Formats: sequence, C-alpha cells, structure tokens
Amino acid sequence: QSLPSQAPRLINFLEPKIPYRSILAHKGSCGHVLCVGGSTGKAGAIRLGAKAALECGAGLVTVASQKETVRSLQISEPEIMCLELPEENSGALRELFEFPADAMIIGPGGGRQLSNLLFYRDLLLSAECPIVLDADGLYCEEAERDMVLGILRKRKSPTILTPHPKEFERLTGISTKSLEPRKLDAVREWAEELDCCIVLKGTRTTIASAQGQVLLLDAPNPALAKGGSGDVLAGIIGSLLAQGFDIFEAAVEGCKIHALAGKIMQQQYGNHSGGPMKLINHLSEIFKEYT
Ligand code: APR
Ligand code: MG
Repeated sequence: QSLPSQAPRLINFLEPKIPYRSILAHKGSCGHVLCVGGSTGKAGAIRLGAKAALECGAGLVTVASQKETVRSLQISEPEIMCLELPEENSGALRELFEFPADAMIIGPGGGRQLSNLLFYRDLLLSAECPIVLDADGLYCEEAERDMVLGILRKRKSPTILTPHPKEFERLTGISTKSLEPRKLDAVREWAEELDCCIVLKGTRTTIASAQGQVLLLDAPNPALAKGGSGDVLAGIIGSLLAQGFDIFEAAVEGCKIHALAGKIMQQQYGNHSGGPMKLINHLSEIFKEYT
C-alpha cells in the first residue's frame, strides 16, 4: 500500500549540516569507509568516491578492488588503504566480509561481470554497517530484477540507493519516460517498498526515506554534467554515514554539500570546465564555512 501523495518539501540547500568533530578526534573515532568497486578502465570511479569520503572527514578509507585498481591506487593515493580482492568470489573474501567498516559504498566502477554482481549481492546481505549502493552495485538484467529486489528486501543494513534515472529503470521497470510525470510518488513508493532511502539523481534530485518523507533538491548545474560527479556524491554520503549521520540525514546533507561544492566550482570554472576532481577540492570550502 503506497503513501498518499503530498507536495514535496524543497531543500534549502544553502545550509548543510556538517558532522561534529571533537577536539579529541582521532582517526578511529571519525569513521572508516569501505569503498567496494573499481575495475579495469573504471578505477577512477572508486578513486573519486574514496577521495571524496576522505575530504568530507572520514578517519579511514579503504578501497576493496581487484589487483589492477589496487596497484594504481597504491601509487597515486597515499591516504587510501587498499584490500585486494581475488578474481573469484571465494573463501579468500572472508577478510572483506568481516571488515570493520562504519559505512560501505558498493558499486562505483565495479563492472557488471556476473561474478562481481553476485559478490555485491552477498556483501549486501551480510553487511552490518550502513550502505550506499551506487552505479554497478545497482545493476541487474531484466530477467534478474525480481531476484535482486528480493535481496534488497532481505538485507538487514540501512541502505541508500543512489540511482540515476536509467539505473532506477533497470531496478524498478519504470521507464525514464513514464517516470518523469510521477517521479516523486514513484521514488517515495519504492523507498517504502524496499525499506531504504532512495536518491534519484538528475538535474533535480529527489530524495525519499522509507518512512515517506520526500525532498526535492532543485539546484540545476550543468557544470556537474560530467562522468564522475555521481561517484563523488556516493563518497560524500558514505563519509557522512561513517561519521554517524542517519540514513536520510546523510542522503539529504550529502546532496546539499555536493550541490554547494558544484556551485562554487561553477562560479570558478564556468559550465564547461572543472570536473569531479575539482569538485572534491571545493568540498573543504563547504566544511570550513559550515562547521
Ligand atoms: N544539474 C544538477 N546536477 C547534475 C546535473 C545538472 N545538469 N548533471 C549531473 N548532475 C549530478 C547528478 O544529480 C548526480 O549527482 O551529477 C551526478 C551524476 O551522477 P551519475 O548520473 O551517477 O553519473 P556518474 O556516476 O558521475 O557517471 C559515471 O557511473 O553511474 C555510472 O552509468 C554511470 O557510467 C556512468 C558512471
Ligand atoms: Mg553514477
């Protein structure tokens, strides 16, 4: 049974809430984000997510990925730890399944090979920390949809799904065209149905909680229309979760922080230039301003 339709509340995205950081903070008290994803040709996606998570204040960030991604990150990112995954979903993955993460990001750049998808699904079922499920973590073939939805319903951990409209279509069967006129209701219904938070990204981003709250972030910004902007958002939200924000709070405040950093980037570089790495570099301005 779906919730009654109601007007969405527009986000006042100018005032984000920033995690409190004690003067006594240490790396162990600021949250450990585990980022699972990255693959040949798409190592950059998980790298962006991991860097954004660090820049937003996470005490520790670990990327779990296959050999090639791990090697590239070990050279380029001294602040990020890595866990090398075996090529197959085998017993050697135990370290990952028992990893002491405070939040997990699953999917950016992970690839769509069946072995990966099966592994993401196992991870989703066994996780004990909050999860951001993004990009390839949301991927499913049409024939597998019911099975994947069944896994999402069975999972125990609080979860935020961050699809763009095509990813939402694959998961729900609602085409991007038919979604447009009833976006708010559709996102609200699916968030309730799957008992999770959904961030449906786009020029305007819709955020719905499992309890029926819906917010609309109305911050069009063509400077964000570049591959990698979404991976940065996943990293921001994962970082807020690891620092203790609850699910809906992390989704809403993460989207505000992303939009504000995007706005600063647009002011500095215009609509065409800039990009996800610069977006990450502007996060500090938001954190300084609103602490
Ligand atoms: N106005 C406001 N926000 C925008 C705009 C715009 N015009 N264009 C993009 N964005 C924001 C979206 O709201 C979202 O937060 O940028 C982000 C884009 O996220 P994705 O669509 O997930 O794209 P991204 O992840 O960066 O693309 C890299 O990952 O999800 C896969 O299939 C995707 O191959 C792609 C890859
Ligand atoms: Mg994406």
